[in-house]
Amino acid sequence: MKLKNIFSFFIFVTIIFGVSLTPKSSLNDVSGDDSYSGLRGVNLGNFLEAPNEGDWTNGLLIKEKHFQRIASAGFNLVRVPIRWNAHAMDITPYTIDSSFFDRVDWVIDQSFANNLSIIINIHHYNELMADPESHRGRFLELWQQISHHYQNYSHDLFFEVLNEPHDNLTNILWNQYLQDAIDIIRVTNPDRTLIVGPTNWNNVWTLSDLVLPQNDSNIVATFHFYSPFEFTHQGAEWVSGSNAWLGTNWTSSQAEKDGIDNEIDFAVNWAKTNNRSLFIGEFGAYQYGYMNGRIEWTAYVRAKAESIPEMWGWAYWEFCSGFGIMDSSLSYWYTGLLGSLLPDSPLIKRDYSTSSSLPVLESTPGSESSSISFTTTSESTNLEIMPILLLTSLITVFYKKKQEKSKELDTITSKKNEKNKPNENRINLH
Ligand code: GLC
Repeated sequence: MKLKNIFSFFIFVTIIFGVSLTPKSSLNDVSGDDSYSGLRGVNLGNFLEAPNEGDWTNGLLIKEKHFQRIASAGFNLVRVPIRWNAHAMDITPYTIDSSFFDRVDWVIDQSFANNLSIIINIHHYNELMADPESHRGRFLELWQQISHHYQNYSHDLFFEVLNEPHDNLTNILWNQYLQDAIDIIRVTNPDRTLIVGPTNWNNVWTLSDLVLPQNDSNIVATFHFYSPFEFTHQGAEWVSGSNAWLGTNWTSSQAEKDGIDNEIDFAVNWAKTNNRSLFIGEFGAYQYGYMNGRIEWTAYVRAKAESIPEMWGWAYWEFCSGFGIMDSSLSYWYTGLLGSLLPDSPLIKRDYSTSSSLPVLESTPGSESSSISFTTTSESTNLEIMPILLLTSLITVFYKKKQEKSKELDTITSKKNEKNKPNENRINLH
């Protein structure tokens, strides 16, 4: 009887709080920006960008379920990095292998079958970076073939002209080559959205050196975001000296947030001045960083991106390898990372909000692995979730009492309940 009264009181308080607090959004709020209508994507990295598919993934190839998983999480875009230059003749006419085209066709078809828009690019054309003059003709001929091949595809296919120009592909050369490539692509694809980024590995600061054709408004400017590099690339095998950075964390301090804001705001100012939309084509933190830091960094960058009116879209680097939000066998999600990207993902809602099983409360705010969207929220958001917390605490007390009673009666049943506790780190699919 007493318990029932307390229960009613809490329900009352909950309703009062619930109706009196209106949802607020702030720049740092990572609980999802309802006004954001841009693309939310993930890179299918390490597959078609390797010399041969499977070389960097222990033989694993892209399968239908990759697209199914990505779509089921709530993404609406995949970016697929592709090493075309490893599948084309070295001498003129630089013909691309037809079997490789077949493979990319299949990848694009799978994306569309799962309602995902798709970006394809030219990735890891290292020879072009080392010796631009010798490879200019081959680079343009690759685009001639690719743009011809896909000219009749839906406009949900986007072309990104070149990943991360660097080294000897200087500003002067890159501004010429990109214009040449755009001219070739536009012959067969006059209305397709193109994506172009600046030199120095698509660094934000070199946006100011990028010259895009004035008469073509259907070009989005891209940059990659990995700052602080010592944090996002600690222990990265391909970055020399990066083992010395192991242990670097991202603690969500004001100075750290300001650092991110300053850099991204530079791109925003550039976009405003140049009347361009922006795309963050890659951002992510490698597997050896602390998981909480990775989650909070990812959430902050994603929320920052979604607060920008000029933002056309973003794509996390990457899906199921070293930066992954899912394990390589596609058995489970790293839910903290997934939630930092898609706080409203139906997968998270399913496992963390709508389950009627009691243990769901153990992965609500405060628990380390479930900092999904709550750890960097503002005070106002904490107030907003207070009624839910009150209600959930009460339900816990209520059920725990009930459970204790049944425990006395049936110890076997309670043991079974414990076994059914969900693993807080993962959403198991098998
Ligand atoms: C670039 C590289 C890719 C790498 C990523 C993160 O896209 O091409 O191979 O994994 O950046 O460093």
